[in-house]
Amino acid sequence: MSPTHAEGLLAAGRQYYLPVYRPRELILERGQGARVWDCEGREYVDFSSGIAVCGLGHNDPELVAALVEQAGKLWHTSNVFYSEPPLRLAEELVVASRFASRVFLCNSGAEANEAAIKLVRKWASSHGRAPDRRVIVSFRGSFHGRTLAAVTATAQPKYHEGYEPLPGGFRYVDFNDLGQLAEAMAAGDVAAVLLEPIQGEGGVMPAAEGFLRGVRDLCDRHDALLVLDEIQCGMGRTGALFAHWQAGITPDIVTLAKALGGGFPIGALLAGPKVAEVMQFGAHGTTFGGNPLAAAVARVALRKLGSTEIAANVAKQSRALRDGLARLDAEFGLFAEVRGQGLMLGAVLKPDYAGRAGEILDHAARQGLLLLQAGPDVLRFVPALNISDAEVADGLTRLRLALAAWVSAAA
Ligand SMILES: Cc1ncc(COP(=O)(O)O)c(C=O)c1O
Repeated sequence: MSPTHAEGLLAAGRQYYLPVYRPRELILERGQGARVWDCEGREYVDFSSGIAVCGLGHNDPELVAALVEQAGKLWHTSNVFYSEPPLRLAEELVVASRFASRVFLCNSGAEANEAAIKLVRKWASSHGRAPDRRVIVSFRGSFHGRTLAAVTATAQPKYHEGYEPLPGGFRYVDFNDLGQLAEAMAAGDVAAVLLEPIQGEGGVMPAAEGFLRGVRDLCDRHDALLVLDEIQCGMGRTGALFAHWQAGITPDIVTLAKALGGGFPIGALLAGPKVAEVMQFGAHGTTFGGNPLAAAVARVALRKLGSTEIAANVAKQSRALRDGLARLDAEFGLFAEVRGQGLMLGAVLKPDYAGRAGEILDHAARQGLLLLQAGPDVLRFVPALNISDAEVADGLTRLRLALAAWVSAAA
């Protein structure tokens, strides 16, 4: 029997991709809102949004219109010539951020963090600090990307293995432990503290009440920069355009990517007044960063993700999702807790089920639900921020079927 279209494609993936991923065995073909269809016509509710990227769901008409319009005008200029979309986007990001004076546009989260790490180093060197006094502190459980410096900032050994020698100048402490951070900064050699207001890949772990404020105070006391990685938790996901607004603090640098482009690759570094003039001509660069196509789409995404309608829907659907997960837990008794904020939620499996989130994701896909994990023990919910009541309800129904199937398979 000849292989189906899907089987042929999956075989190509197995043969030709560098096998660094293990995607679920389905080929997605099109999407609409919070639903997607595979190449065999099966429909799925999407609680994953391409890893917290498609904040406005799939096929948003205004994003499509912005892309199509720009595609008919100009695709690329490089950084040696200006074009309008990235210029406008930079201005709009500065205004929206309420703290930044300048913006560096790039193509991904790792690149935005790489730029942030370089900016910290340049700032420290321009203040006469010796290389061994330019330490960046980051937190266990963090994730900052896969370039060599960003992965070194990522304080999880599993991402480091085999890539030694790693760049120097990084120090790790436990997340949500201000005492450890104070100790790590006591020697006065720390140039910056880098953190996610809600750790994403590390298990959907929010900063504890008062933690961000405490980190800001320690940075001020030790003349260190506060760098916030809002690549996953930013752009409206927590119910505010920037997650740190909810803690009432002002960072020195913020990095963005993921939802900023609504699915089109783009990243950004936002620099506050203390560091905005540090990098001058020739200090950093990228060929594609600030690409007119990406910027045209991101302008629309930024405007829509910062709207009061999105904030209201995030609050509403967050409650609906939490209520639904509580009902599922009452029925199946699988979760130790549900944590997170807005539409960035994690259901932590009880110790008895540790390491088995992946099995639940397989069952979810079979029931027509695209779900993520955040580490081996946490089911991660990061749907589109404009997801509807019906889509949330439908997704929860499918999750119930998946959990029931998993429980009976395990029995
Ligand atoms: C918090 C955070 N920072 C950085 C990154 C890296 O972004 P990218 O994969 O676009 O390089 C991610 C990706 O998951 C992330 O969640």
